Amino acid sequence: MAKLITGGLGFIGVHLAHALARKGEEVILFDVVSSSPLIKDIKDRVKIVQGNLASWAEVLEVVKQHKVDGIYHTGALLSASAEEKPITAYEVNAGGTFNVLEAARLFNVKRVVYTSTIASYGLGLHTVDEDTIQMPISMYGVTKVFSERLGEYYQRKFGVDFRAVRLPSIIGPGRGAGGASAYSTLMISGPALKRPYSVFVEEDVIMPILYIKDCVECLIRLYEADNARLKRRVYCIAGFSPTVKEIYDEVKRILPNADIKFKPDREMTEIVRSWPKYLKETKAFEDWGWKTKFLLKETVEDFIKEVQAHPEIYG
Ligand SMILES: NC(=O)c1ccc[n+]([C@@H]2O[C@H](COP(=O)([O-])OP(=O)(O)OC[C@H]3O[C@@H](n4cnc5c(N)ncnc54)[C@H](O)[C@@H]3O)[C@@H](O)[C@H]2O)c1
Repeated sequence: MAKLITGGLGFIGVHLAHALARKGEEVILFDVVSSSPLIKDIKDRVKIVQGNLASWAEVLEVVKQHKVDGIYHTGALLSASAEEKPITAYEVNAGGTFNVLEAARLFNVKRVVYTSTIASYGLGLHTVDEDTIQMPISMYGVTKVFSERLGEYYQRKFGVDFRAVRLPSIIGPGRGAGGASAYSTLMISGPALKRPYSVFVEEDVIMPILYIKDCVECLIRLYEADNARLKRRVYCIAGFSPTVKEIYDEVKRILPNADIKFKPDREMTEIVRSWPKYLKETKAFEDWGWKTKFLLKETVEDFIKEVQAHPEIYG
């Protein structure tokens, strides 16, 4: 029996694939693209299936063909691409979730774990939890709220074991340069590779962040959590919420020669300022014992160490 990761060649997908392969799981990566430099070291231990989440037949086929018993559904268009192509985003993010849940129902897949986002909330909120009303203004956020509600429906109506997390911005080696939140990754990975970096938001901006290692651990822990203890299907994950200056200070503590400048862009700063600054993860802790482990210091230290240890992958 295999674990399927949709969007398996994306940033979260490849890190999750490494962790599942280390656990001895059979792993299938389903993605529109067919390769990633981040998967080279385990490409003999995973199977890559190229396909489109928006295609009902292709999703059905991968689940049936590989006797999938669990799905990590991470495939999606992210915020900037979704805003650029809202119709495709609807087909992939909303339609793709429908296809995944329907395949799970038809082939008795044991469990579906889904990656939702802080972008599912509206603008200008300070602190959010599971009870905060979601009023997204982007196509990305709209499709994420839809997917959460559809998953809950499939759980109620058909007994599909759907579980989801609302994640803050994920940072770590291998994350792409796109999007307004990317500064938090690039101001660490750039200096780790001795490259200069100009930060495009103001120093006092606060954004919730989760390190990729915690993210992967969190998804696996939620997957493995005892169903009897889950009082809800969707949980908020807090991470930690540093200012940009605090990230800067931490990088400089480890790499005193880091060449980081501030060239704030008003539009980018406003986008990041409009997102919730803090998430509460009390319910995840109560129901399945989740607590964010990597805070600012541990994250920056580990991130720099990983990038410097593998310049052939991250350079
Ligand atoms: N990265 C973050 O900060 C963050 C924060 C919160 C939630 N999330 C969620 O986590 C998930 C993974 O994010 P990520 O950072 O790995 O993004 P990513 O863009 O690196 O990965 C997404 C993957 O989905 C694939 N994909 C896109 N369209 C597809 C299609 N039609 N069919 C099959 N695959 C398709 C892409 O090729 C890519 O490999 C997403 O659902 C995202 O909404 C990410």
